[in-house]
Amino acid sequence: MNRKEVLDAIKDNIENENLVRHMLATEAIMRALARRLGEDEEEWGITGLLHDIDMELTEWDMDSHSKLGADLARELGASEAMTHAILCHNEKHGVLLETKLDKALFCADPLTGLITAAALVRPDKKLTGVEAKSVKKRFKEKSFAAGANREQIARCSELGLELDKFIELGLKAMQRIAKELGL
Ligand SMILES: [Fe+2]
Repeated sequence: MNRKEVLDAIKDNIENENLVRHMLATEAIMRALARRLGEDEEEWGITGLLHDIDMELTEWDMDSHSKLGADLARELGASEAMTHAILCHNEKHGVLLETKLDKALFCADPLTGLITAAALVRPDKKLTGVEAKSVKKRFKEKSFAAGANREQIARCSELGLELDKFIELGLKAMQRIAKELGL
């Protein structure tokens, strides 16, 4: 399974442009995390890219989301480690986070939303000028991008990564692909 095949599968299954961008952002953060932690960048990146592939097929129903996604990922040739990470990134199924890959996807997913929102409140709506310290400040404002689960993001600590460092890493990773993200 290569990145091109995954992108084709995404095209076949997702119409919502913002959702595709979210998956690309998650991929970028997962790649940066893998590089930082000395893990397999391709495996982690592809897991991030694939993780919400079933969102439209399940009609955003959280009771089935990620179960179908894990099955689709397996059909596309994802490893068991990757499918497990995809399955447990939706807490609803009660599947515990076991591996570093599970934990990385779980905390990277909501960080994309927080960073995107931090860009969108700027007059230029661009990621370029967003500073890590403003994202950190926004993290503490509960009503800001309330859908970006703070507890979930903070579980980066389970990867041995401080929250501040995680935010910096995520922001830089997303800034590198700002154009693709439309930000
Ligand atoms: Fe997601």
